[in-house]
Amino acid sequence: CRRSNGKAMKQRLLVVANRLPVSAVRRGEDSWSLEISAGGLVSALLGVKDVDAKWIGWAGVNVPDEVGQRALTKALDEKRCIPVFLDEEIVHQYYNGYCNNILWPLFHYLGLPQEDRLATTRSFQSQFDAYKRANQMFADVVNQHYQEGDVVWCHDYHLMFLPKCLKEYNSRMKVGWFLHTPFPSSEIHRTLPSRSELLRSVLAADLVGFHTYDYARHFVSACTRILGLEGTPEGVEDQGRLTRVAAFPIGIDSDRFKRALDLPAVKEHINELTQRFAGRKVMLGVDRLDMIKGIPQKILAFEKFLEENPTWRDKVVLLQIAVPTRTDVPEYQKLTSQVHEIVGRINGRFGTLTAVPIHHLDRSLDFHALCALYAVTDVALVTSLRDGMNLVSYEFVACQGDKKGVLILSEFAGAAQSLGAGALLVNPWNITEVAASIGQALNMPADEREKRHRHNYAHVTTHTAQDWAETFVSELNDTVVEAQLRTRQ
Ligand code: G6P
Repeated sequence: CRRSNGKAMKQRLLVVANRLPVSAVRRGEDSWSLEISAGGLVSALLGVKDVDAKWIGWAGVNVPDEVGQRALTKALDEKRCIPVFLDEEIVHQYYNGYCNNILWPLFHYLGLPQEDRLATTRSFQSQFDAYKRANQMFADVVNQHYQEGDVVWCHDYHLMFLPKCLKEYNSRMKVGWFLHTPFPSSEIHRTLPSRSELLRSVLAADLVGFHTYDYARHFVSACTRILGLEGTPEGVEDQGRLTRVAAFPIGIDSDRFKRALDLPAVKEHINELTQRFAGRKVMLGVDRLDMIKGIPQKILAFEKFLEENPTWRDKVVLLQIAVPTRTDVPEYQKLTSQVHEIVGRINGRFGTLTAVPIHHLDRSLDFHALCALYAVTDVALVTSLRDGMNLVSYEFVACQGDKKGVLILSEFAGAAQSLGAGALLVNPWNITEVAASIGQALNMPADEREKRHRHNYAHVTTHTAQDWAETFVSELNDTVVEAQLRTRQ
C-alpha cells in the first residue's frame, strides 16, 4: 500500500496483454454487450491483495468508426478495461502474422515459416514492422493512463517490444514482462531475424518472468550468446544495469473449481454424464485446436491402443474438446481438417451402430460443463508437443474429488516440472509410448492412483494463480529499487 494524506492507497497496477479478458459484441451503432472471460489471469489478479488493477489490451474486434470506439471505451471502463484499437491490416500483420505465424511456432520449437507460410501473410520484415507499430500503440495507451507510482505488467510474446517503448516514455516506470509460452533454447532463438532487437527490448524491463527455470535459463543464454551480455545468478547485466530474470510458475484458482463442484447444477450434470458413459472409462482431452497441443498425435496413440487392446474397444471413450482458435491463420485451418480426417477414420474403423470411440467437439464448454466433465474423467490426456505451462492439467486435478483419475502428461509441458511425480509423463511424439501409458493408466491399481493424485492435488491447491500474481507484483516492486541501486553503484 502507498500512503497519501495519511490514507492507505492501493497499489495501482496496469496489466497489459494483447487480448482483454472480455468478449465484445456490437449491438448497435453505439451499444456493445460485454462478457468477462474469467480465465486464469483475471482470477489471479482478483486475488491479489491491496492492488487496484486495470487492463489494457485489444478487444478482439475491429471498430473502424469513432462512435463505436467511444461507446466501447465507455462500456469497457466499467469493467476496468482500456482498449487498444487495432485496424484489420495491423491485426493481419501483427497478430496473425508476426505473433501467430512466426513467434508462436518458433517459441514452441516448430521452427520459422518456410516460403509458402510466409507468403500468406506477406514478408517477414513487414510483419515485424507491424509488430513494432502495434507494440508502440499499446505503449501510447499505457502512457496516457499511467500515473506516477503505477506498476506496469506486460504479458506474453505479443508484447516483447513494449518494455522498451515504455521506458522511452518514462525511464522511472516500473515495468515487468512475463512470458506465458516456453522460451526456447538459444539455438532456436538465434534463427529469428529480429533476435537481438527483441531481446534488447525485453531487457528494458525491470523484471522478466517465465513459468520454469529452464525457460529463464534459455533466455539468459540467448542474451549472453547473442548479445554478448553478462548473465548473473539474478539475471542479465548490461553496462551496470541489471534486469532481474526469474521463474514464476503460474497456478489456477483451485477454490473456484472446488466451489463449482458443490453447485446443484454441476452435480446434476455429473450424474447425467455418469449415466451416459456407464460401463465405459472416460478419457478426456481439452485443448485449443492448436498444433502445439499434439491433438493428431494423441488421437493416433489412442487408435494404437484400441488396435492393440481389442478387449477395451467398447469399454473406453475419448472425449476431445478442441476449442477453435486463430481461425484466420491457414496453418490452423489445415490442422482442423487433419484432425477431422483422423477422427472420422478411427470412428469408422472402431465404431459400432450404438457407440463411437471418439467424441470430438470443435467448441468450448461453459465453466460448469467443463468442471463436470473433469469430475467424471478417469484419464486426462495432456500431450502437448510444447506448452508454456498447461493449466488443463491443473484444472483436471482440482476437479478430481474421490475419483482420483490419472493424468497422462507431456514431458514438454511446463506443468511436467510441478506435476511430474504424480502424472504419467510421456514423450508425445512417441505414439507407442503414449498408447502404453493409456493402458497403464486404465489398469492402474486404486492405491497407486490415490498416491499420485494426492501429490498433484497438494501442489495444485497450494500453488495458486493468486500466489503467482502476488509474488510477481511484489518482486517487481522490490526489483526496481534494487536495479536503481545497482546502477548508481
Ligand atoms: C496462449 C497465449 C495467450 C493467448 C492464448 C489464446 O495461451 O499464451 O497469450 O491469449 O493462447 O490465444 P489467442 O490468440 O486467441 O489470444
